[in-house]
Amino acid sequence: MPGLLEGKLGLVAGLSNKYGVAWGVTQALIREGARLAFTYQGRYAEHAHDLTSDIAGSIRVQVDDASDDALLRPAFDEIRRNLGGLDFLVHSIGFSPPAALTGRVTDTTRDDFRTTFDASAYTLLALTRAAEPLFNERGGGSVVAMTYYGGEKVVLGYKIMGVAKAALDGIGRYLAAELGPDNIRVNLLSLGPLRTMAARGIPGFLGMMHEAPNRAPLRRNIGMEDAGNAAVFLCSDLSRNVTGEILHVDAGYNITGM
Ligand SMILES: NC(=O)c1ccc[n+]([C@@H]2O[C@H](COP(=O)([O-])OP(=O)(O)OC[C@H]3O[C@@H](n4cnc5c(N)ncnc54)[C@H](O)[C@@H]3O)[C@@H](O)[C@H]2O)c1
Repeated sequence: MPGLLEGKLGLVAGLSNKYGVAWGVTQALIREGARLAFTYQGRYAEHAHDLTSDIAGSIRVQVDDASDDALLRPAFDEIRRNLGGLDFLVHSIGFSPPAALTGRVTDTTRDDFRTTFDASAYTLLALTRAAEPLFNERGGGSVVAMTYYGGEKVVLGYKIMGVAKAALDGIGRYLAAELGPDNIRVNLLSLGPLRTMAARGIPGFLGMMHEAPNRAPLRRNIGMEDAGNAAVFLCSDLSRNVTGEILHVDAGYNITGM
C-alpha cells in the first residue's frame, strides 16, 4: 500500500538531536513516503548530519535564526533548487533564555521577551511566508507547528514560553485565514510532555511529566510516535478540509478541569 505522503515534498524546520520532536516526526513522515528538506541551527550540525545523511533524496540547510529573512532567503532558494516546491512545512522550533524560565513572568526583561517571541512565535510567520511561493508551485500546502497547553491555560512552570505559545496559536489561526484561499492550511499540534532538550530547560518539567497521567483521561503520557502520526495526518490529504485547528495529542489532558 502506498504511504500517505507518497510523492509529497516537505520541510522539517528545527531539527535538533535524536530526542527532538523534529526527529520523532521525521521518522513518521519518511515511513509514509515523504521526501524531505531539513533546517537546523549550527549547534546541531553534527547531529543533523548523522541523523539525515542516509535519508534518500533529502537535503539539509543550516539556518541559525529562522526569524531572520536574510538567512531564510538563500535557504529557501536552495530548497527550491533541490526539491522544486513544497507540499508541507513542519515547524518544530522554540527557545527562551534560561533566565526567563526561572523568574516570574512579571519580571521578564524586554530582551528576553523579544528573544523568546522571535524564536518561538515569529519563526512560524517568517517560515510560512518563505514557503508560500514553494507551496504555490504545488497548488497549495500544509503547515504544522508544535504548541503546548501552556498557551491556553496558565501552567506556572512554563513561564514566558506559555505567552509565546499563545502568540504562536494566534499566528496559526491568522495565517490559516489569510492563506486558505490559496489552498494553504495551517494547524497546530498541542503535544503532551516529551523528554527533549528544550523540555529539560523548563523548571519542574519532570514533575509535569509525572503528574500528567494522573489527570489525563487515558492515564498515560504520549510518545514521539503519537506526535509523528498526528503530523502525518495534518500533512496528508486526509486533513484536506482541516485548517486553523489546534489538535491536542495529550491523552486528553486538556479537557479536564479540577
Ligand atoms: N518536548 C515537549 O514536551 C513539547 C511539548 C509541546 C510542544 N513542544 C514544542 O516542540 C517544538 C520542538 O521542541 P523540542 O521539545 O523538540 O526541543 P528541541 O530543543 O529539541 O528543539 C527546539 C528546536 O528549536 C530550534 N531553534 C530555537 N531557536 C531557533 C531560531 N531562532 N531559529 C531556528 N531554530 C531555532 C533549535 O535549534 C532546536 O532544533 C517546540 O516548539 C516545543 O515548544 C515540545
